[in-house]
Amino acid sequence: MKSDTKLVVSKVCVCRLAIIRKFLAHSMAHAASLLVENLDPLKQLSMNYGVLDLACGCGRNGLELAKYDIPVTFADCDEVKLSAISATLEQEKLLGNAWLVDLEKSESDPLAQKKFDACLVFNYLYRPGLESIRDAVISGGLIYYETFTLDNRQFGRPNNLSYLLFPNELKDVFKGWEILHYFEGELCSPRRAVANIIARKP
Ligand SMILES: C[S@@+](CC[C@H](N)C(=O)[O-])C[C@H]1O[C@@H](n2cnc3c(N)ncnc32)[C@H](O)[C@@H]1O
Repeated sequence: MKSDTKLVVSKVCVCRLAIIRKFLAHSMAHAASLLVENLDPLKQLSMNYGVLDLACGCGRNGLELAKYDIPVTFADCDEVKLSAISATLEQEKLLGNAWLVDLEKSESDPLAQKKFDACLVFNYLYRPGLESIRDAVISGGLIYYETFTLDNRQFGRPNNLSYLLFPNELKDVFKGWEILHYFEGELCSPRRAVANIIARKP
């Protein structure tokens, strides 16, 4: 790559990083209600392995937990978002680490052999990976999962069936787990159709 092209590329990256950090600062106040309103079961865990924020995006949910000294692994395939999270962790002296990972195209299962006290999954669905999520949570650990359902098609994206839950699908995926909370229906701000679950692995 020519040096002036390199300069433009790095300027674009720095600029994107700055935008994401700004967004991050804003979004830290906007962790998912499901998590914010149901922190107690998480705070009661022993935290030997920490919490996985899977497909964390800007990390709004994991950063909310890090504020309570809960160690969080932030997993995503977006290097720029992860860099912004790492910078925030360092700046705010919070516990956590960024894990750059492609959850869908890796040759082997990236979650194999990994263990977590809890896993957060928000606004992400990759059906072939659901079993690995179940396995990665230790016995007694928790899942917090919320994403869009088929009904969301009336509100716009995502409208690809691969990214939308069928009725009761989350309940079925975590069958056998103790369900602490389950909801399926419409939420507002923005208006959307989701299912969400908090469940404890037996
Ligand atoms: C809609 S965002 C949700 C972010 C976050 N969970 C939240 O609710 O704020 C989906 C995230 O999934 C990540 N993602 C998509 N495909 C991925 C993959 N194959 N491996 C890892 N992360 C992926 C994207 O980079 C993006 O940050």
